[in-house]
Amino acid sequence: MNTHGEDTILEILQSAVLTIFGGTGDLAYRKLYPALYSLYKKDQLKEDFAVIGTARREWDDAYLREVVIDSIGDAKISDEHVEKFASHFYYQSHNVNDVENYDTLNELIDKLENKYQTCGNRIFYLSVSPSLFGTIARNLKLQHLENERGFTRLVIEKPFGNDYESSKKLNDEIMEHFEEEQIYRVDHYLEKDWIQAIIPFRFSNPVIESLWNHNMIDFINIKVNETLGIGERGVYFDETGALRDMFQNHILQLISLLLMKRPSVLSSSAISEAKVEALQQLQTYTVENIDNHFIRGQYKAGSNNKDAVDYRQEPNVSANSMTETYVAGKLLSNDNNWSGVPVYFTTGKYLTKKVTHVDIHFKEDKDSIFDEQTANKLSILIDPEQTIELVLNGKKAEYTLDPAPLSFQPTEPSKSAGDYEKLMYHVFSGNRTHFVHWNELEVSWKFVDHILENWEKADSPLHFYEVNTTGPEATNELFN
Ligand code: NDP
Ligand code: BG6
Repeated sequence: MNTHGEDTILEILQSAVLTIFGGTGDLAYRKLYPALYSLYKKDQLKEDFAVIGTARREWDDAYLREVVIDSIGDAKISDEHVEKFASHFYYQSHNVNDVENYDTLNELIDKLENKYQTCGNRIFYLSVSPSLFGTIARNLKLQHLENERGFTRLVIEKPFGNDYESSKKLNDEIMEHFEEEQIYRVDHYLEKDWIQAIIPFRFSNPVIESLWNHNMIDFINIKVNETLGIGERGVYFDETGALRDMFQNHILQLISLLLMKRPSVLSSSAISEAKVEALQQLQTYTVENIDNHFIRGQYKAGSNNKDAVDYRQEPNVSANSMTETYVAGKLLSNDNNWSGVPVYFTTGKYLTKKVTHVDIHFKEDKDSIFDEQTANKLSILIDPEQTIELVLNGKKAEYTLDPAPLSFQPTEPSKSAGDYEKLMYHVFSGNRTHFVHWNELEVSWKFVDHILENWEKADSPLHFYEVNTTGPEATNELFN
């Protein structure tokens, strides 16, 4: 326990000056400031840090501090405590396209380094439109914002490109000025507890790993379903679609963790290599069979939710948009270990239930001596519950040997810190395991481009589904 009664199991973080580009934006307000406060509350961030919020708006330190306090809301320990936290925040008005602004920023960082004794450690968080990522990286380097005395880390939000070409161009631009080890590409799903737990769960339990193959596993089913529509994000979403927004990053990351071989050592680069190898083994499809492996859907208004409108009537969405708000897929791997094991997934907006789950369905016993038995299943519950559940068979009633399903679950679902709190923790502690390495992005974008090209060539149907349902009926055919 720390002095505020919070559980403290983690180390105290390295001191640094953190500059947030996009300090007036939605992500900073909703996620980044509260995440930093959670670390401060747990005494993981001590007093030796400073945060500079920067954007074009003409705010000042006092106003930013008010915004920060407001963003924390009821999570504060006391007024005094949250004010002390906010006193670490500074604001600089800065258009990232104006080169001279970087000198002023550098002077402010220098001053704060002295004041907070942060040993030259600098973190730059790019929470702005992706079109500005390259400009910021270039100017940080060319205007000498690195301090050789300490580390420099660049945290880059999503989306990292819109296809392979654009992500490569962006990556080349950034890599011209920064080393891969300095770059932290965000995928907040990698901070979810039970996604992180896949590695220890698989590789520290020989009993589990011995079952993790095509001899024992029948199929895998991944659901990343959401109950909300696209909200105010019409401009972004209509350009992007669910395949790029959810599958290219979150779902392919999850699949790579599920299918990868054991990494040679427990290091960020060895894990990344194993993930890349798993992604490279995924089978690709042709124009002839793409519709047997991926379907796309789009929501329309329906009786289950009177407030929802057709996707095509959402603000900033084209009236004849073909953008998918739903995708379902059936993937196969060329890896012998996974021979014939389909990996099914669904993801979509406006579905009945918010869930992120993985179900590993084990093969049934063909030579069973029982008339009926339930197939074994392991569920990894990622969101909103965070736990695992294992279905085995026990005995039905006192005087019979008939099997009945027994479900095991750790008694207490784990309570975890928020995704962005863990993300900030890993940035400050320099652990890149939970960030996306370029090689992973490269393979996953190529895979996604291939699907999009084939959808286009095949003129694949867009399956409409009513809001607050389980999605298009075509999913059932795909999965059967
Ligand atoms: P917002 O539009 O809310 O914020 C954008 C920020 O960029 C503002 O602070 C804006 O401030 C600043 N900005 C824009 N142009 C310039 C410029 N030329 N120079 C300096 N600052 C500029 O976006 P979000 O906060 O929602 O998103 C930020 C990033 O995070 C994006 O990459 C997004 O894709 C990603 N993201 C966001 C999520 C969310 O839930 N919001 C979820 C996942 C990812 P000003 O106008 O004052 O200049
Ligand atoms: C983001 C997507 O990456 O993840 C959003 O851009 C989506 O469209 C969100 O809503 C889902 O995240 P979570 O953590 O709520 O499952």
